[in-house]
Amino acid sequence: MSVEEQLHSRHIEALQVEERRFPPPPEFVAQANAKPEVYEEANGDYEAFWAARARELEWSKPFTRVLEWNEPFARWFADGELNISVNCLDRHVRAGRGERVAYYFEGEPGDRRAVTYNELLLEVCRFANALRAQGIKRGDRVAIYLPMIVELPVAMLACTRIGAAHSVIFGGFSPDAIVDRVTDSGCIALITADFGWRRGKTVPLKENCDAAMERMPDVKCCIVVKRTGDPVNMEPGRDVWWHELIEGQPATCEPEPVDAENLLFILYTSGTTAKPKGIKHTTGGYLTGAATTHKYVFDVKDDDVYWCTADIGWVTGHSYIVYGPLCNGTTGVLYEGTPDHPDKDRFWEIVERYKVTILYTAPTAIRTFMKWGTEYPGKHDLSSLRLLGSVGEPINPEAWMWYRDVIGGGRCPIVDTWWQTETGMIMITPLPGVTTTLPGSATQPFPGVFPDVVDEAGQTVPPGGGGYIVIRKPWPAMLRGIWGDDERYKETYWSKFPHMYLAGDGCRRDKDGNYWFMGRIDDVMNVSGHRISTTEVESALVSHPAVAEAAVVGRSDAMTGQAISAFVLLKGAQVGSEPLALELRAHVGVKLGKFTSPKYLTFTSELPKTRSGKIMRRLLRDISEGRTLGDTTTLADSSIVAELQSRAREEAQKEE
Ligand code: PRX
Repeated sequence: MSVEEQLHSRHIEALQVEERRFPPPPEFVAQANAKPEVYEEANGDYEAFWAARARELEWSKPFTRVLEWNEPFARWFADGELNISVNCLDRHVRAGRGERVAYYFEGEPGDRRAVTYNELLLEVCRFANALRAQGIKRGDRVAIYLPMIVELPVAMLACTRIGAAHSVIFGGFSPDAIVDRVTDSGCIALITADFGWRRGKTVPLKENCDAAMERMPDVKCCIVVKRTGDPVNMEPGRDVWWHELIEGQPATCEPEPVDAENLLFILYTSGTTAKPKGIKHTTGGYLTGAATTHKYVFDVKDDDVYWCTADIGWVTGHSYIVYGPLCNGTTGVLYEGTPDHPDKDRFWEIVERYKVTILYTAPTAIRTFMKWGTEYPGKHDLSSLRLLGSVGEPINPEAWMWYRDVIGGGRCPIVDTWWQTETGMIMITPLPGVTTTLPGSATQPFPGVFPDVVDEAGQTVPPGGGGYIVIRKPWPAMLRGIWGDDERYKETYWSKFPHMYLAGDGCRRDKDGNYWFMGRIDDVMNVSGHRISTTEVESALVSHPAVAEAAVVGRSDAMTGQAISAFVLLKGAQVGSEPLALELRAHVGVKLGKFTSPKYLTFTSELPKTRSGKIMRRLLRDISEGRTLGDTTTLADSSIVAELQSRAREEAQKEE
């Protein structure tokens, strides 16, 4: 089946019935940051459009060159110099805005703190001095494994102050995953906390780091934030407390100006192999892209209170909790915990408490709120909200309408924003004062972004058709490559179609040019907005002594978008059992992190393979979703399909 056919069969209904249109409310249009002219400006001379946005930043040495495109390697504003922490902090303080709140921090246990730009600058300077005192300098890489506490953006900004790059590792990852990432990027320091909070329980972050550091001899220094205060092991000479380190450090710190193309961060994301990709982002272009999209898509104003509920461990948090918002001098909320602690109304309590005006969250969360029921948002005054955003996976029209009606009271525009770790910034999205929205569509390209939908031959698909989403021109916040692996960068994104960036998503474009995303078309799953590679989970399963072979696919899931479904072949004469299935799930959790543990696990005596020995994932997906099967004549042994089908059905019944 071609990609067009797959997309057609998967999602055609949604398109056929979706006729609802929501033009922006006139009051919103009147005050919006982005007017229709921005499209004209960007379509005219797109390099000039981006250069004008870049000039809104503060440059210690202005750039004269805009784009150098040596396909597939881009350099933006390359002869300019700037410092990100200056743009995010000093600039606002100097402009007399130091008393503005940068973050309303809300800890999971209910501890609260409003951090102003003055205070944030002070903390960043002291910590940057402390990093320098530890010998960390420009060009070094620092790993950060912290909960969603103020020290996390402080640590990131302190790295930028001294020209070091950071690599943030999501707090849900296991020691093995930390080792892979830290070793690959050659980080020399690790910043963590004693514990984090999650649903009232503590998460042993330092202990995970201890286990990881046994296998990371190059990490010479581990800085530990005291979050819960429970005892942890501190290795003399290697481990130091954050609060002790910053004691006595000067309140100012000379910023290191860096080239626009200086490495800002590496962020690991899953691809189609077991090895995660270290996505590289640099300074000037990334900040231009993050800040411009943040200003236009979220329409932020001085009196807004903006809340992005993502975790900073993922790209959404990098671009839309830290860099975009701080660069724009935004007042935001930083929440440490989960939506259901202590009760299922925690988000709505936060919206009410801080009078949040702009809320940016994920479809999986929205669907969970739908399941919990309207009584929880109903307990709180949500009338401060004026704009809603969605990110991470396609949002189904039902969830979109619920979000609009129940959370937005029918008055707030919704911006469904499509982008990726690799793109660094929002790429396809409504502009809330311009675009007419449709439930389930990410609508139009952001000004200065040039996507297309193409077929297998790389030809533009006519309106109404589906195919691969590609980007035809470089954009400022685009990835600059994969850390240490230019070949993989070229192969993954630039080899399928000449002169086009391949995102890996399926997409349809309707007759009005609106984009409808259909999910991944490669071996990448999207579980609650987490990108997980099928092969990564397969390798984790196979690393268990009982497992001979495993195949993993994503299965549609009403709540999480996709759920992980594993087919496992055991070694020798072993037979599968319920306890072993539990053990294998837990094993994956330990190897990679709990969020990657398969929801479904089916034991089988054979896996469906083509005659050339390739596992037929499409078939497994069909089996796992209980769909009628397509052509199986290329299978080596078609009898196994019957076996797998009946096992998968049993599994599903058990779940229900
Ligand atoms: O499949 C798309 C989906 O998330 C993938 C990118 O994942 P990640 O790099 O982890 O970044 C997530 C946050 C930007 C994409 O390839 N995706 C993200 N946003 C949307 C989406 N799919 C449909 N609609 C979206 N709004």
